[in-house]
Amino acid sequence: MARFQALSLYLLSFCLQSFASPTKAGEPFLKALNSSAWIIGNDIWNLTIAQTYGTKLMYKGYDLVGEAVGHYVSYNGAVDNLNWTSARIVKKSGDYTDIAFSANEGDMHWVLTPDLFGAYQYFVNRALPTLGEFRTLWRLDNTTFTRGHTSERDQDLPPLALILSGTKVQDETWLLPNGTYVTKYDFATFLPSIEGNLSYWGVYGQLNGTGAQIGSWYIHAGKDYFNGDHLKQELIVHRESSSGDAVQLNMIHGTHYQAVSNDTFPVGKTWGPWLWYVNDGSASDAAPRAQQENKDWPYAWFQDSYGYHSRGSLSGRVVLSDGRAATGAAVFLGDNHPNKTALDQGSWYYYRTYADSNGNFEFNNVREGMWGLQAWADGGKIGDVTTSFLRNDVSVAKNKQTKLGTMTWKTQGRKKIWQIGQIDRKATDFEYSGPPHQHARVVKCPANFTYTVGKSTTDDWCFGQSDIGKWTVSFDVPPFPSGSSSPAAVLSVSLAGYSSGVSSNILANNVMIGNLTSEDILSDPCLYRSGTLAGEWHYYEFELPAGTLKKGSNTVDFQCTRTTLWHGFMWDSVMLEWK
Ligand SMILES: *[C@@H]1O[C@H](CO)[C@@H](O)[C@H](O)[C@H]1NC(C)=O
Ligand SMILES: *[C@@H]1O[C@H](CO)[C@@H](O)[C@H](O)[C@H]1NC(C)=O
Ligand SMILES: *[C@@H]1O[C@H](CO)[C@@H](O)[C@H](O)[C@H]1NC(C)=O
Ligand SMILES: *[C@@H]1O[C@H](CO)[C@@H](O)[C@H](O)[C@H]1NC(C)=O
Ligand SMILES: *[C@@H]1O[C@H](CO)[C@@H](O)[C@H](O)[C@H]1NC(C)=O
Ligand SMILES: *[C@@H]1O[C@H](CO)[C@@H](O)[C@H](O)[C@H]1NC(C)=O
Ligand SMILES: *[C@@H]1O[C@H](CO)[C@@H](O)[C@H](O)[C@H]1NC(C)=O
Ligand SMILES: *[C@@H]1O[C@H](CO)[C@@H](O)[C@H](O)[C@H]1NC(C)=O
Ligand SMILES: *[C@@H]1O[C@H](CO)[C@@H](O)[C@H](O)[C@H]1NC(C)=O
Ligand SMILES: *[C@@H]1O[C@H](CO)[C@@H](O)[C@H](O)[C@H]1NC(C)=O
Ligand SMILES: *[C@@H]1O[C@H](CO)[C@@H](O)[C@H](O)[C@H]1NC(C)=O
Repeated sequence: MARFQALSLYLLSFCLQSFASPTKAGEPFLKALNSSAWIIGNDIWNLTIAQTYGTKLMYKGYDLVGEAVGHYVSYNGAVDNLNWTSARIVKKSGDYTDIAFSANEGDMHWVLTPDLFGAYQYFVNRALPTLGEFRTLWRLDNTTFTRGHTSERDQDLPPLALILSGTKVQDETWLLPNGTYVTKYDFATFLPSIEGNLSYWGVYGQLNGTGAQIGSWYIHAGKDYFNGDHLKQELIVHRESSSGDAVQLNMIHGTHYQAVSNDTFPVGKTWGPWLWYVNDGSASDAAPRAQQENKDWPYAWFQDSYGYHSRGSLSGRVVLSDGRAATGAAVFLGDNHPNKTALDQGSWYYYRTYADSNGNFEFNNVREGMWGLQAWADGGKIGDVTTSFLRNDVSVAKNKQTKLGTMTWKTQGRKKIWQIGQIDRKATDFEYSGPPHQHARVVKCPANFTYTVGKSTTDDWCFGQSDIGKWTVSFDVPPFPSGSSSPAAVLSVSLAGYSSGVSSNILANNVMIGNLTSEDILSDPCLYRSGTLAGEWHYYEFELPAGTLKKGSNTVDFQCTRTTLWHGFMWDSVMLEWK
C-alpha cells in the first residue's frame, strides 16, 4: 500500500514538473523532412525514419546503420513491414519526450530524454491482424556491430562469407565444409520472462574502425507483454543471411519454438515500454542498467489505455492432494478459462513465477483483471506429478493484495514402479540436454538403447529420440500377492517437445500398447531449430492392461518406425505406475 502511495506522489510531482519545465538545450526533437520522412533524436544521436525504415543512425558523425536496412516493425515474417503515415510528439513529461509514428496497425512510440543514447520504445495496437510473429528490430552496420551477446552466448556473428561457403540444409541452416553447422537458431534463448529477471541482449563491436567500443541492447524490465510461459524461447540476434546485416531482434510476440501461436489482440494492447540502450559495448554495463530498469518498473512516467499503473498483487499456496507442498512448482497467471496451452497464450498479459519450498507463490505488479492461474511440476520434490493445477476467475484489483490462501492440486494418485527423468516440461538431466542452443545435437543420440532400471542413470537416457531403432526400458516387477495376477499399469510419456516426421510404437513385453505418430502430435520446431531443453510440452498416458506385467523381468519399448533428420521426440519424463 505504502508503495502505491509513494508512486502517486511521484506521479503528481512529475506532472507538476512537466508544466514547469522550460525548453532545454539538447532537448529531444522530431523534425519533418517531408510528408513521409522525419528525423528524431537528441544532442547525442539522431535517426531518419521514412515510410518503413529508420536509417542514418547518427552518432558523432558515424552512421551506425550504414548499408544495413535499419529499424523497422513487422509481423508474420518480412512480408508485412509497417508503414508510417504520420509522426507527432504526443507528450512531454519532465525529461521524457514521447514521439509516436502511426501505421494502420498501430502506433510505435520512441520516448527520448536529453541525455539518453537510445530510447524507451512501446507499441500500441490499433488493428494488428491475428498473428504469430510480431517484432521490432535493428539491422545495423556490420563493420561496427560484429558480435552478439545473449544469456547463452557471447561471440562473433558468423561472417556472411562463411554462411555462403556452406550448403543450405534447412531453414537458415548451413553445413560448412568442415562438417559443422552455422544457423541463426544457435543464438536463440529462453526469454528472461519472470519479474526481476535481468533481461538484456544485443550486438556490439568497434565503432567503424576507431577503436572505440559501442553496443546496442534491448532491456525489458516489464515482461508481462511477452506471449507464453516460463519456457518461452526466441530468436535474439543473428547475421542476416540475405544481406550480411547485424540483426538485433526484439520478438515481442513470437512463435519460433511453438506448435501454435496465433493470437488476436484487443485494441490498445501495449507492448513495452522496453529500453533500447546504446553503450560502450560492455555487457557488464548493460547488466546493471537492466537492474536499474527493473527497479524503476512499472515506469512512473508511463500510462496506457488499460491502466498501466492499475496493478495489484496476488499470493497463495498450493499443496498436492497427497499432502505435499507444491515445492518449486512453475506458477503461471494467464488467460481466464484458457483454450490454449500456457506457452501458446499471447493475446493479453502474462505473469510467471515459481513456488517456494512450501508451495507459496506471489505475483507483484499484476494488471487489474480476471485471470486463470496454473501450476505444474518443475521437477525436484514434485517431479513425479503429471497433473497440472488450474483455477479460473482469479481477480486482481488495483492497489489490492489478493490472498488466495491454500489451494489443493489433485495429483494422479498412483503408485510408482519407475520413472526416468523428472516432470518439469524440460529435458533436464538427460544426455546432451541443456544450453546453449545448438543445431543437430540429436544425431548424437543412439538408435538402439537399453535403460536398465536400478542400474542406468538419468544421464544415460538421451534428450531426444529421432533415429529408426528401439529404446528399451528393462525392469523387474516386485512379486504380486500370491495367487493374484498383475494389476493394470499406466505408462506416462511426457515430452518436452516434438518436431514432426518421426513416429514410434510403444510396446510392453512385446505387446503394442500405443503409438506416438507424426499425424497425431502438434509439431513445434524445437529439435531442428537448435533446441536442447524444451519446445511445446505434450503429455500422454498408455494403459498396460491387467496381466501385461509379469513377475521378474519386463520391458517397455519405444520403437521408432519413421524418421526425419533432426526431428523427433524431446523427452521430459517416462514413468510407469500401478493404475
Ligand atoms: C522525403 O525525404 C526522404 C529523406 O530525405 C526522401 O528519401 C524521400 O524521397 C522524400 N519523399 C518525398 C515524397 O519527398
Ligand atoms: C545528427 O547527428 C549528427 C552527428 O552525428 C549531426 O551532424 C547532425 O546535425 C544531426 N542531425 C540533426 C537533425 O540534428
Ligand atoms: C566507416 O569508415 C569508413 C572509412 O572512414 C567510411 O568510408 C565508411 O563510410 C564508414 N561507414 C559507416 C557506416 O559509417
Ligand atoms: C508497406 O508498404 C509496402 C510498399 O510500399 C508494401 O509492400 C507493404 O505490404 C506495406 N505493409 C503493410 C503492412 O501493408
Ligand atoms: C557486411 O555486409 C556486406 C553487405 O552490405 C557483406 O558484403 C559483408 O560480407 C558483411 N560482412 C560480414 C562480416 O558478414
Ligand atoms: C569449422 O569451421 C568453422 C568456421 O571456420 C570454425 O569456426 C570451427 O571451429 C570449425 N570446426 C571444426 C570442428 O573444425
Ligand atoms: C529468472 O528468475 C527466476 C526466479 O528468480 C530464476 O530462477 C531464473 O534463473 C532467472 N532466469 C534468468 C535467465 O535470469
Ligand atoms: C490464425 O487465425 C486466423 C484468424 O482467426 C485463421 O484464419 C488462421 O487459419 C489461423 N492460423 C493458424 C495457423 O491457426
Ligand atoms: C475460449 O473459447 C470460448 C468458446 O469459443 C470463448 O468464449 C472464450 O473467450 C475463449 N477463452 C479465451 C481465454 O480465449
Ligand atoms: C538398431 O537395431 C536394429 C535391430 O537390431 C538394427 O537392424 C539396426 O541396424 C540398429 N541400428 C543402428 C544404428 O545400430
Ligand atoms: C495408433 O494408436 C491409435 C489409438 O491411440 C490407433 O487408433 C491407431 O490405429 C494407431 N496407429 C498405428 C499406426 O498403429
